[in-house]
Amino acid sequence: MNDNPYSTAVLAWYQANARDLPWRHEGASPWSVLVSEIMLQQTPVVRVLPAWEAWMERWPTPADLAAAPSGEAVRMWNRLGYPRRALNLHACARTIVERHGGEVPDVHADLLELPGVGPYTAAAVASFAYGQRHAILDTNVRRVLARAVTGVQYPPKAQTRAEVALAEALLPPEASVAARWGVAVMELGALLCTARSPACGDCPISGDCAWRAAGRPAYDGPPRRG
Ligand code: ADE
Repeated sequence: MNDNPYSTAVLAWYQANARDLPWRHEGASPWSVLVSEIMLQQTPVVRVLPAWEAWMERWPTPADLAAAPSGEAVRMWNRLGYPRRALNLHACARTIVERHGGEVPDVHADLLELPGVGPYTAAAVASFAYGQRHAILDTNVRRVLARAVTGVQYPPKAQTRAEVALAEALLPPEASVAARWGVAVMELGALLCTARSPACGDCPISGDCAWRAAGRPAYDGPPRRG
């Protein structure tokens, strides 16, 4: 049984409205998904796109990057900011070659051991690259769930266990559907349910949104950012 009252509408909306991003294409390699997620950790999609294309052309597999000096990775990182991520990716590539035969691991716990990979990134790679059933909780998803389910404008500053439990309770039972739900709700938060100007008029779940039903009350918790 699916206890998610939003999934049908959000999945249909995603199908019709999602951005065409290359790392979401059918057949995108797990390595290309990992590279995209590390880049997207602190950089917006429009700036990641050209950097990701150039990176994947130069180092299409972990073995290609592992064979390069780490300084080359930092140089290639260019203007994405937070260049420690380039060193992390380089260290990821070497670990993947040394411990996983050159293939990005498909087990969440193994992904978590890679440098720079936290619970969100491990779940994103397991879900988006391998079609597994994992709760995806990034900033966008947290904001959508805070509004639609909890009825508040913003989630708490630091992620809570209640948010994890909620995201898990909403996961559709079938892995491939759960994987699409994860990226779809993330996209809804990125495109419509934005921090500062939510487009409730276009939102596929506005009729089921607790925050909208309450009259979109302003956040009144402790100080936080967007
Ligand atoms: N698609 C998959 N992962 C994403 C991310 N982290 N940000 C934006 N779009 C994505």
